[in-house]
Amino acid sequence: MAKKRVLSGMQPSGLLHLGNLMGALENWRKLQDEYECYYFIADWHALTTQYADTSKMRTYVHEMVIDWLAAGLDPEKCVLFQQSQLPEHAVLHVLFSMITPLPWLERVPTYKEKLEQIDDRDLYTYGFLGYPVLQAADILIYKADYVPVGVDQLPHLELTREIGRRFNAFYGDVLPEPQPLLTQYPKLLGTDGRKMSKSYNNCLYLSDTPEEITKKVMAMITDPARVRRQDPGNPDICPLYTLDQIFAPKEWCAHVKRECPKAGIGCVDDKRELLKHLLEYLRPLQERRQALIADPKKVAEIIAAGSAKARVIAKETLARVQDAMKL
Ligand code: TRP
Repeated sequence: MAKKRVLSGMQPSGLLHLGNLMGALENWRKLQDEYECYYFIADWHALTTQYADTSKMRTYVHEMVIDWLAAGLDPEKCVLFQQSQLPEHAVLHVLFSMITPLPWLERVPTYKEKLEQIDDRDLYTYGFLGYPVLQAADILIYKADYVPVGVDQLPHLELTREIGRRFNAFYGDVLPEPQPLLTQYPKLLGTDGRKMSKSYNNCLYLSDTPEEITKKVMAMITDPARVRRQDPGNPDICPLYTLDQIFAPKEWCAHVKRECPKAGIGCVDDKRELLKHLLEYLRPLQERRQALIADPKKVAEIIAAGSAKARVIAKETLARVQDAMKL
């Protein structure tokens, strides 16, 4: 039986951190063994919010692919490509834009939220409103069965299905309905105790050296009520403990859970233990990273080759779509 097809994309809007690794990349990596996977750099989507300053675009694209490969995405097993190398997505986007009612776009929750949140850039643009239409084109042009995403992306996926259904209703059954593959993962907290996010400047980056990681973890916030070593702490509200639960052995977590509330161990002890396991976990990734940094041509070649493979499918679907529309 043919493998089901998986598609997902990521915006090159900054360096990848541990939250991206555990929340998305680890999942992408596992899926490549079971499914026919397409993963792409959503650089046009990054433009919807970063259009005024594209000076870092190429760096972010390059670094992101390095992080993908370092995290174990294997171009022998999955197709890695770049949205802007596939003009077919843009053609499907323009066709979808003809049939997408404006109110569908205006009521997407992330649209209003972002407009309110982001106040240093003008997001009252055509491209920003059309963000989910472009995403629908990304997904439907590969007739993807599954789209691994976080919960925040569910409204976009719902809209994708609605656009696909509307297309099929007008022009015949061409586009299958994709299903989300929800990525369940506890939110990683950053060094300041807030959600790990590049806008908070509290991240452990995949590109950080072991020394940088060590410095950041040693400076990380723990239970704020635990000021001195002899104060009892509460692991349940400790950002460090969220990392323990992912990277440290179960026995250590149980030890912390038992001893921290009695001040039986100190935060520094916990940090040292976490670092041992975290650095061990990151070592192979960082070694692959170093090799890739030394070979920028290889990174570009992987994306060019992946884009050529993706193009075969994209062209085929687009031809079917144009035929159905009598173009
Ligand atoms: N909107 C997604 C995000 O910000 C990125 C994305 C663009 C995407 N096109 C996609 C994800 C298609 C899955 C499928 O995370």
